[in-house]
Amino acid sequence: MTSSPAPLPRFSRITGTGSMLPARRLTNADLAAELAQRGVETSDEWIVERTGIRARHFVDATQCASDLAVVAAQNALAAAGRMASEIDLIILATSTPDMVFPSTACIVQRRLGIAGCPAFDVQAVCSGFVYALTVADSMIRTGAASKALVIGAEVFSRLLDFNDRGTCVLFGDGAGAVVLEGSATPGILATDLHADGRYVDILCVPGTVSGGQILGDPLLKMDGQAVFKLAVGVLESAARATLKKAGRHAGDIDWLIPHQANIRIMHGTARKLKLPLDKLIVTVDEHGNTSAASIPLALDVAVQAGRIRPGDTVMLEGVGGGFTWGAVLLDL
Ligand code: UT7
Repeated sequence: MTSSPAPLPRFSRITGTGSMLPARRLTNADLAAELAQRGVETSDEWIVERTGIRARHFVDATQCASDLAVVAAQNALAAAGRMASEIDLIILATSTPDMVFPSTACIVQRRLGIAGCPAFDVQAVCSGFVYALTVADSMIRTGAASKALVIGAEVFSRLLDFNDRGTCVLFGDGAGAVVLEGSATPGILATDLHADGRYVDILCVPGTVSGGQILGDPLLKMDGQAVFKLAVGVLESAARATLKKAGRHAGDIDWLIPHQANIRIMHGTARKLKLPLDKLIVTVDEHGNTSAASIPLALDVAVQAGRIRPGDTVMLEGVGGGFTWGAVLLDL
């Protein structure tokens, strides 16, 4: 008689979080002083009032996204009480990979010493982590993987035009990671992903590599006001759609972690969901906008601080270039 296969885990659950910030921290005043040397005028007052950002971290010339990702992943593994050898899937969200190819996920895999399991990058800019977490959740629920590392890692400082004060004050570098495992209990309750390619041009790095040269402009371009307006609308709709799929209500959310880009967008989203601002996790003040790393970084900071605790219900929300957006509702 043949024994029946083990039942699939119905859910996935985060069992550990980790993060990594590069050592070099620049306050707004530090950055303003550097920009002044180029004749670019800005001020701490403007940046704080319009964005909520007070500081950001930048890599040095030798560091890549994988350097940050490996440390974040190791911290997440330690928090989950797992060895790297137990991981059977790596998904890494980035728009600033180490190389054109292979993927930064494969570089991280090599550095963790775990050859064999699938490893790939997800490119959805600032929505990258919610995209990556959604894919990992699906793969775990279908039995394709049982213990995944899901990472967001960025070195956006490499893409910034330091002559454009409208963008260069906004972004920072960093990485965040989670271990996601199969579980009989949720875990991830619902996910909701979207993209609208009609808005490719409002936030982009239009350059590419061809014939040994960079073709086009390799620096970040953004229509800030267009992004702002779209972001406020889609963050509310994604949160509501995700709650509906999970059969939950906004009042069930213990913590809201929207993409950390601008405190005004974050406050607007909390207000639309009628959530008190003390349920909002804010790290944009200290990290700036770290694109795909912003959500796992904020999650880890809040977990390390003992604010988000096991059993809490958390709404993660991404929005960014593409245009892409999405949300993940989970019980920690
Ligand atoms: O990660 C993807 C998500 N990205 C976002 O969510 C970004 C969304 N957009 C935003 O956060 C905001 O649109 C910005 C923070 C980028 C800009 O804020 P704003 O209130 O929309 O400012 P603005 O672009 O309308 O500029 C207002 C003024 C302009 O001067 P004038 O034309 O009124 O004289 C700008 O030149 O502020 C000036 N300005 C600055 N002044 C000092 C723009 N950047 C700066 C600066 N320092 N860094």
